[in-house]
Amino acid sequence: MNKPVDLPLSRVSDEENSNTSNNPSFASVLDARLSRRSLLRGGVGTAATALFGSFGLAACGGGSDGDAAPAEKALGFTAVPKSLADVVSVPAGYSVSILYALGDPLTANTPAYKNDGTDTDFENRAGDHHDGMEWFGLSATGTPSNTATDRGLIGMNHEATTDERLSSFFLHANGGTSTLPRPAAEVDKEVAIHGVSVVEMKKDAAGKWGYVKDSAFNRRLTALTEVEVAGPARGDALLVTKYSPNGTLTRGTLNNCGTGKTPWNTLLTGEENWNGYFFRATGDDAARGNDKSVTSLRRYGKTEGSASRHGWETGGADDKYQRWNIARTGTSADGSDDYRNEMNGMGYVVEIDAYDKSKKARKRTALGRFAHESAAFSNPVAGQPLAVYQGDDARNEYIYKFVSSANWDPADANAADRMAVGDKYLNAGRLYAAKFNADGTGQWVELTLANAAISGYATYPFANQADVFVNARIAGDAVGATKMDRPEWCAVHPTTGEVYFTLTNNSNRRVDPSNAAQLVPDSANPRVYTDVKGTTNQQGNPNGHILRLKEGTGGAAALGFTWDVYLFGAESGAPAGTVNLSSLTADQDFSSPDGLVFSPSTGICWIQTDDGAYTDVTNCMMLAAVPGQVGDGAKKTLSYPRAGGTTLNVDTYVGKAATADTLKRFLVGPVGCEITGLCETPDGKALFVNIQHPGETTAMASIGDPTKYTSQWPGNAGYGAGRRPRSATIVITKNDGGRVGT
Ligand code: FEO
Ligand code: CA
Ligand code: CA
Repeated sequence: MNKPVDLPLSRVSDEENSNTSNNPSFASVLDARLSRRSLLRGGVGTAATALFGSFGLAACGGGSDGDAAPAEKALGFTAVPKSLADVVSVPAGYSVSILYALGDPLTANTPAYKNDGTDTDFENRAGDHHDGMEWFGLSATGTPSNTATDRGLIGMNHEATTDERLSSFFLHANGGTSTLPRPAAEVDKEVAIHGVSVVEMKKDAAGKWGYVKDSAFNRRLTALTEVEVAGPARGDALLVTKYSPNGTLTRGTLNNCGTGKTPWNTLLTGEENWNGYFFRATGDDAARGNDKSVTSLRRYGKTEGSASRHGWETGGADDKYQRWNIARTGTSADGSDDYRNEMNGMGYVVEIDAYDKSKKARKRTALGRFAHESAAFSNPVAGQPLAVYQGDDARNEYIYKFVSSANWDPADANAADRMAVGDKYLNAGRLYAAKFNADGTGQWVELTLANAAISGYATYPFANQADVFVNARIAGDAVGATKMDRPEWCAVHPTTGEVYFTLTNNSNRRVDPSNAAQLVPDSANPRVYTDVKGTTNQQGNPNGHILRLKEGTGGAAALGFTWDVYLFGAESGAPAGTVNLSSLTADQDFSSPDGLVFSPSTGICWIQTDDGAYTDVTNCMMLAAVPGQVGDGAKKTLSYPRAGGTTLNVDTYVGKAATADTLKRFLVGPVGCEITGLCETPDGKALFVNIQHPGETTAMASIGDPTKYTSQWPGNAGYGAGRRPRSATIVITKNDGGRVGT
């Protein structure tokens, strides 16, 4: 099935491309050349030794094999071949078990999931489209534990749902209603399968993992759950709604994608493609007097007349449906009689205390409002600020960093009131956007009214600093941040502290742009090529890359960094000099990196894909990697012939090519899925992974005929009733009891 390479099916309608700002492209700074080598000299090498030393793994390719424990070798498994099979494939010597799937009951009284479209009560069941997740250990007595290996909570995102023409068709008996208005019962179900789960996992005496159906810790947050607005935008005029005239509350968390775990043991969840769920009627620009809110709405992908993904606003007169209609319908000056400001309540990193369901979730507005993926902390240093790295996943959007005003106090790691610690570190700080230079350096540019480029920005007059956080994309435009190839997850290397960002793909790169949305390649987003899928030419950067950066002076608070491209996604058979720049082999080749998590136990970098470009050859996958560090490769100049006979030369920096010992495919998922989210027990012996939207390529018209479902997983693996495909959490263990990935 052909589809746009940067729009996996679940997001065909919601991954917008609204960055039409005039930020300078890299082409204009290509002549700025400095000696990159001199910038990177120093420190390299000691980091690699520390990595392997601290994890006790054999230093595959790292030059110190003799130091490692002989019984355990990093990536000691046999690579899993690419596959189109409707199963989860892992290496020989490993086992997979399915733990927790869409609809599984979360209370003792909730009936088993029938999986035929008649189930209800999703507020007490697992949500759909499992995504990012984090582990929160529990002692035998049910208190928080950082060492427990047989019992814990998983805080997990339920990003979205498999849909076609408005309806989440696997959730409704006959596929549901694909025209407006949508029936209230269908809307209620769809609203409830979004959000977050907290679910208890436990290993029994025989060593078998399962989820605990009747755990008192189990919890669901949905797209309707009341959430506190926290940080600088709390109480701001931009957050005033009929539901919360003082701008301190909102309802729901939505399209939750990547996650993060704070150093004080709470869950961070990123709201990604939330804009698609709101409806704004034609004529609303004029109803708003074409004021600056129209500029903001457009920049966040909500032009007037844009339909909503599911038509939830048509569920009825009740306020819980009407809140999805964000047109100005009231007469108040401040928006307290309608939902014209409702979309300003979405797009944040949300903090949740997985251990305490009595605590309301809090939207951390200081971290900015955009299409959030993961939120990755710098390795905490006592007495220094904390950095939180973040990406904005849409074509041509930015990379961000938040730096806390408060300095890290290690005593806070074990505080009893975790949400209060969150208030301390996440409600006040500085937000920066990244600029990548052609010489391999970069700057963090603060998004502050103190910068005249922001306070004097003609396109959008910012009212105050809260406005800057709520409209972070516009502030990024104002300072000329670098437009990236869809920043997905980021993760911080546990010993080097270097920051890795997946840039999943971008169909809007062209050597000779033909419209305003297309950008020429630049140093940090250097590839433009054509990849063939069946008979379709996929253009731009169809396979994506993984960029990494090393902070300069100041560590987490640094204003400058150096960077390179750790890996370029590619087919192994693609041209080595222009596309397969990382020399990937058949055991390593991948496309569209998305999830990215470093194991705290083994240090292995797990890379997960959400791909539509290479899916004619293989289902989505997960690879295990042992990366080096920024600067371990070489400069490379890519030369592109342009119309008119000129040449565009783009300098980039390619990390050291992976070897069979440093990058290897570990898992391939069932048909139509993406692999996303990963957490593990502290001993590294149980690895939890999410299989999202298997069978997503199924046509709605096939409902009722399982033979036409493109996937029947996990029913075909013996899990649960029925054959409608279900997103699910799996656990992977090594048969010899060792750490996963060794
Ligand atoms: Fe939800 Fe950008 O992936
Ligand atoms: Ca191809
Ligand atoms: Ca993602």
